[in-house]
Amino acid sequence: MILANTQQSFGFALLAVVLVGAAVYIVAKVRSGRAEVGSEIELAPNRKQYLDDEDLEGPKLNAALFSAAGLLAIIAVALPVYWLAEPGRQEGAVEKFEETFVERGQVLYETGAQCVNCHAGGGVGGITSFIVNDQNGQFVSQVNWNAPALNNVLYRYSEDEVRYVLNWGRPGTPMAAWGALGGGPLTTQQVDELIAYMWSFQLTPEEMRAEVNGLIEGVDPGLAERLAEVNKSNEGIAGPETANRLSRADEIALGEILFNNQGVGAGSYSCSRCHVPGAAYGQPWGPVALLQYGSFGPDLTGIETQATPQQHFALVWEGMEEGKQYFSRRQGTPTMPGFGLNPNAGQADKGVPDFGEAGMFTPAEVWAIVTYERNLSNDLTVKSPVAGTTESPTFAGVAADTSTTETE
Ligand code: HEC
Ligand code: HEC
Repeated sequence: MILANTQQSFGFALLAVVLVGAAVYIVAKVRSGRAEVGSEIELAPNRKQYLDDEDLEGPKLNAALFSAAGLLAIIAVALPVYWLAEPGRQEGAVEKFEETFVERGQVLYETGAQCVNCHAGGGVGGITSFIVNDQNGQFVSQVNWNAPALNNVLYRYSEDEVRYVLNWGRPGTPMAAWGALGGGPLTTQQVDELIAYMWSFQLTPEEMRAEVNGLIEGVDPGLAERLAEVNKSNEGIAGPETANRLSRADEIALGEILFNNQGVGAGSYSCSRCHVPGAAYGQPWGPVALLQYGSFGPDLTGIETQATPQQHFALVWEGMEEGKQYFSRRQGTPTMPGFGLNPNAGQADKGVPDFGEAGMFTPAEVWAIVTYERNLSNDLTVKSPVAGTTESPTFAGVAADTSTTETE
């Protein structure tokens, strides 16, 4: 079919009218021209008798003036109508454009790039089999790695940060570099289409809250209740760092739940999946050989000597920005997410969907995680390779020498 869509059929119709009109005009001209052949002498245009004043200023002039006025009226009406309709037309075009992006992103997600195999349909998160190797590429173990839910990913990462993950992947984890920038198969536009599709399935803030609340209630209903009260008392506070907080004991308990949770959202709400080697595949405090591999962020034991509570809170609240300073002399990467502030809020003018200021956790919850992390050094049982003992931990990052795994 040649006439693919309305614009094209309209264009073809117009073209046909113009061509037929031109043909008729030419034929008419040629024919009327014939009659005059040889009679140029008498009929030379400058020798022809023209109309006299009477005729010129009579109906002829009126006809010319009326037709001019008519054309003017058409323009006068047509322009405002055009102006009225134009924004709607543009909006429609943008919407259509975005719809196309979302549709194409979905096709990529579900068939083209197979994100669905790991992150599951609608980005609810899943699990994937992965072979963990050591630094020499030698087999360590086959594991089931949590692929985090993506239906909340735009509450912790800006669009650029999500683009960064898609382009470069997460070395040493099942998440490959998908964008051409990182050597993957997807073009820049395809990466953007995937982001557009991810926007289409983000949870609402209420749905996300329900997931977090459900998690806490499932472990400790009393704590959930006390937290709900503190959260309520903090509604509408000016600065999150001055928020009301739970008791220290409650903060450590809540921090432990939130930091380590791998159950809800396939670990997407947790810190341990990046900060505790093995946590992403269900071995938070497993055998030393496994502990060496698989963590992406640094060990946080001793973090209390690196940052003040306020600096620590600010980092977990806002996350990092590439190149931007955090703590007193560190520089951020796009990988560490922010958990308190929605990084995509307030950018509706740039066409970014706006789900509001709130990120994944409330101020009281972020304080709880901060307190828990600053207490990790005191909690050697948790850090011990053999749960329940206080044997000194051997973690990547703590024990710089990782030759404990014999690969020969
Ligand atoms: C083989 C399994 C697998 C495939 C296929 C896969 N991912 Fe991932 N993805 C993961 C895992 C596992 C992680 C978490 C890595 C880690 O532990 O840091 C991840 C992380 C991510 C993240 C960062 C989320 C966060 O909070 O850390 C995004 C965004 C993402 N993937 C999107 C995609 C998209 C889009 C596709 C399709 C182009 C895709 N992934 C394909 C397994 C996969
Ligand atoms: C997707 C992986 C990922 C997740 C999830 C994550 N982090 Fe991080 N985090 C990182 C990376 C990577 C760095 C290191 C950045 C650097 O050093 O440049 C980091 C750094 C940090 C630091 C600074 C450490 C230092 O010594 O510089 C703190 C504190 C921290 N994260 C806390 C948290 C908390 C709390 C959570 C959960 C609420 C969390 N992180 C979740 C990846 C992650």
